Amino acid sequence: MSEIGLIEGFLKDNQDYVQEKYADKGALTVTQKTSASDLLTEVDLTVQKRFVDKVESAFPGDVIVGEEGDLSRFPDDPEARAWLIDPIDGTYNFVRGLFPVFGVSIAFMSGGLIQAGGVLLPMMDELFLAERGSGAFRNGERLQVSGVQQLSEACIDVDFCEPGDRKHLFKRCNEVLLQAGQLRCRGAAVVSICQIASADIEGYVHMNLTPWDFAAAQLIVEEAQGVASRLDGSPLRPFDRVGGILLSNGAVHQELVDLLRV
Ligand code: IPD
Ligand code: CA
Ligand code: CA
Repeated sequence: MSEIGLIEGFLKDNQDYVQEKYADKGALTVTQKTSASDLLTEVDLTVQKRFVDKVESAFPGDVIVGEEGDLSRFPDDPEARAWLIDPIDGTYNFVRGLFPVFGVSIAFMSGGLIQAGGVLLPMMDELFLAERGSGAFRNGERLQVSGVQQLSEACIDVDFCEPGDRKHLFKRCNEVLLQAGQLRCRGAAVVSICQIASADIEGYVHMNLTPWDFAAAQLIVEEAQGVASRLDGSPLRPFDRVGGILLSNGAVHQELVDLLRV
């Protein structure tokens, strides 16, 4: 089985389970992690556990990192064969029934590069897939970022992040907030980043995001001819232990980098 085949098969196989749990979300077991807005459900744990079992049987010895429990760490060797899972990105939306905007995100890396990525938006019935060098697809349809050229005509998702990051966020993003044509904050990084690839919005900014939140969606944007970087425009490598990320359709990228300078 290829890596992209494993990702696609796993996401398809788990869609019914996530949909059923969302439909009956009143019955979820919900616990708090670091704060009242940082939540964990049995769905996060079950999806991650199922994925670990799948990878361990298909590719024994590969590194697995993920949002929950002791998988939440960086690999010792950033070039190793590594799988990254965020079992539910947008858990807060999932629990509270907001929009409903959340996704399951899986990336495969080797040699320090993202080689394959998949994001499932279970309630929108959308499956995004990308393999390095082969383009990005939503439900089998090839994706291309939007041609919007100016920030004043662009829709940018400025993620409000965790409370501890907000002082930095508002200082750094002040001009972006003032100058962007439209603003959104969806509360699920993978959804907004994939929507750059599908030309629905033009940009996404987060002050401090971990690799499992964005690696799959990063490849999807890049394979749809978009651009991903750190906030200062430098290369975005998931395991380089720097927090801020900026993704865009490419055309408005430099304008964003210039405005994000403090
Ligand atoms: C969160 C979402 C959110 C972002 C947070 C993430 P989670 O992921 O992506 O948009 O602001 O920083 O932690 O916790 O729902 O998987
Ligand atoms: Ca996440
Ligand atoms: Ca998560």
